Amino acid sequence: MKATIVGAGNVGSSCAEYIAIKNIASDVVLLDIKDGLAEGKALDLSQTSTTLGFNSRITGVTNNYAATSQSDVIVITSGIPRKPGMTREELIGINAGIVESVTTNILKYSPEAVIVVVSNPMDTMTYLAIKSTGINENKIIGMGGALDSSRFKTYISKELGKPSSDIDAMVIGGHGDTTMIPLTRLATYNGIPISSFLSDKTLDKISAETMVGGATLTKLLGTSAWYAPGASVSYLVDSILNDQKKIIPCSVMLNGEYGLNDICIGVPVIIGKSGVEEIIEINLTDIEKEKLHQSADSVKQMNSSLKNLFN
Ligand code: LAC
Repeated sequence: MKATIVGAGNVGSSCAEYIAIKNIASDVVLLDIKDGLAEGKALDLSQTSTTLGFNSRITGVTNNYAATSQSDVIVITSGIPRKPGMTREELIGINAGIVESVTTNILKYSPEAVIVVVSNPMDTMTYLAIKSTGINENKIIGMGGALDSSRFKTYISKELGKPSSDIDAMVIGGHGDTTMIPLTRLATYNGIPISSFLSDKTLDKISAETMVGGATLTKLLGTSAWYAPGASVSYLVDSILNDQKKIIPCSVMLNGEYGLNDICIGVPVIIGKSGVEEIIEINLTDIEKEKLHQSADSVKQMNSSLKNLFN
C-alpha cells in the first residue's frame, strides 16, 4: 500500500512519521515544493526505522508528482498554517489556489486514490477539492473531526482523571473555533455517559476548550500544531488502507443527510478502503441540530468566497 503526503512541513512530516512508524503503508512518499526539504525529512525519518522497528519505505521528492504514481491514499497538507491570533478561515486566499493545483496534479498520477484534506480552512478546502476536480465525492475526506474529537477526548480524560483509551466522544460540524460542535451528550467513559461524573459547568468548560484547541496550541507554538493532526491523519489512513470501517467524524459532501446539501462538514462516517463508505445519521436534539445548521451556514459563507477567488 502506498501513501503520499503532499507538504513536508510540520503537519506533513508528522503524518509521514506516524504512518511509517505504525507500518500502516509499505511505501510513504513525501512531496514538497521546497527544494530538498522532503528528501531531507524522508532520509532522516527512514534512519529511525532500525531503532524503532518499522519497514515502511520512505521517499522524499521535490515537486515530482510522477513519484506519487499509483498511491492508494494521498494526504494534502499544503499551504500556510495559521499564526497566533489568526483564524483558519483567514488562510483561504493563499491555500485555495495551492490545494486546487495540488489536487489536480495528484489525480493525474493516482486517479483512484482516496484523498485526505488537512489544509485549512479544511471544510472549504475539501469542498474545493471535489468541485475543482469532479472526483467521486466518496473519495475526498476532510480530517478535522478526527482531530477535534481527539482533543475533546483528551480534555474529557484529563477532567475525569481517567485513561483516554476509555473515553469515547465526537465533535461534529465545521473545523473552526466557532463552528465545531463537541457532542457532550453522547460522550462516554467506558459506555457510561460522562454527565454521570461531570457537572454541566465542567462539560461546558470542556466544550469551550475543545473548540479553541487548535488556537490554544497556535498561541503556545507560534504556528499550528502537528503531533495531534499527524496522529489523526494516520488513524484515518489506517482505517482506509486496512479497510477497518471505523466510525470517524470527517468532513464529507452531504446530499440531504442532516437536512444539508452541497456542503462538506463534519459528521460521523464509516471509513474503509473506498473512502467514505457510509454517512451515519445520528438523532440530534433540536439544539444540536440548530448548532449544526448554524455551523453549516458559516461554512457555506466561506465556500461562497471561493467564487470570488476563482472568477
Ligand atoms: C489544527 C489545525 C491543523 O486544528 O487545523 O491544529
